[in-house]
Amino acid sequence: MARTWSPSSWQSFEAQQQPDWPDEAALERALKQVASYPPLVFAGEARSLLTSLGHVAAGNAFLLQAGDCAESFDEFSAVNIREKLRVILQMAVVLTYSLGVPVVKVGRIAGQFAKPRSSSFERIGNEDLPSFRGHIVNSPTPTMAARVPDPDRIVQAYNQSASTLNLLRAFTKGGFADLTRVHQWTQEFITSSNEGERYEQLANEIDRALRFMRACGIDTESTSALHEVDVYTSHEALIIGYEQALTRQDSLTGGWYDCSAHMLWIGERTRQLDGAHIEFLRGVGNPLGCKIGPEASPEFVLELCEALNPARIPGRLTLISRMGANKVEDSLRPLLRAARDAGHPVVWICDPMHANTFTAPGGRKTRHFDDICTEIAGFVRAHHAEQSWPGGIHIELTGDNVTECLGGADDILDTQLDDRYETVCDPRLNGRQSLDLAFRVAELMRTAGVV
Ligand code: TRP
Ligand code: MN
Repeated sequence: MARTWSPSSWQSFEAQQQPDWPDEAALERALKQVASYPPLVFAGEARSLLTSLGHVAAGNAFLLQAGDCAESFDEFSAVNIREKLRVILQMAVVLTYSLGVPVVKVGRIAGQFAKPRSSSFERIGNEDLPSFRGHIVNSPTPTMAARVPDPDRIVQAYNQSASTLNLLRAFTKGGFADLTRVHQWTQEFITSSNEGERYEQLANEIDRALRFMRACGIDTESTSALHEVDVYTSHEALIIGYEQALTRQDSLTGGWYDCSAHMLWIGERTRQLDGAHIEFLRGVGNPLGCKIGPEASPEFVLELCEALNPARIPGRLTLISRMGANKVEDSLRPLLRAARDAGHPVVWICDPMHANTFTAPGGRKTRHFDDICTEIAGFVRAHHAEQSWPGGIHIELTGDNVTECLGGADDILDTQLDDRYETVCDPRLNGRQSLDLAFRVAELMRTAGVV
């Protein structure tokens, strides 16, 4: 750790997973350009999210963090953004109604462009090509020219994030998220399907509850909480140069905020205690996340908490466990005990996706809906056993009707994976699988007796 933090103090630490930008001057130009642009989010918004996450840490709210594995420059349209938001809102409404606590909504969106890779090169045919590192770095097209890191993409990522955020703000404050529209979000669902029917039923109950409130004399028209939502943005803070370029000093408090998103997280591969990512993020006031795999020890978790949240601010640090369906219960319990005994106010959420990935017989990377549910069930049990609050889930999803994950309501089989496999990175739950999952999570929480 540097004695004094500054937005550039990370530069004297080792940074894992950074691209090999071939043209240093072009990189400098791009970063300077982004540094001169307006912030994408405001410090006050990051502080509101911090407060909401504080309620999660205290066991009084639930965090839904969801979106693409990696956003794409090629799939950038109003429809794409709206469909993703729609699924998130549907999941949120199911969880809010079933759990009876506020659901904090955070998208993996408007900036989720950078991907860590296990290997810098990828063998395609008889050529070794630089790995695809996300659209902010290079193109997935398997040619040498397309894989060369291109700093202009940094500026394009900023611009796409800005328009995405603009549309999100319009949708969430402009009527799309209105609770009187819960039925409309489901238009495309075949209502005869199981999760579609359950959703319709729940939407009817919400209608009745709203009528009840009006009958009691509550002015539902002028109650903005019923018509608007806060959807926050988040991404993995991987390319630290980009994050630094968007780091600004808040004029109200004097504190530094990474204004590329409301919340930033550190991946499993870049969470070295003496590394550049932790050095950079410890100095910004945003809520932070860190992925925690099955190899993490209780000692590591405590050091991480000390490094990123020394003041023990509830909501400041979210630990996102990704253990694997069969390991989660045993791996998580010692970590929960350690944090609790040390008095660290951690928001614990479950990423049931990343440790349950495998290759299907046809060669596609996939995940099974049942493994995803099993991991969440183990996560909830571990928390119940340690008297800790299972604070939320972290999911990769899309609104589209893709066939990337197996199982779920439609029981997608491995022979169907090729039908609509569109992800630029990891396999995502489709709209119906996501909605189904929201119902399952609510059920799991209820059967475990945590709500
Ligand atoms: N504003 C409340 C909330 O965010 C209620 C709400 C309005 C809502 N529209 C929603 C909840 C859509 C979930 C989905 O919780
Ligand atoms: Mn992923």
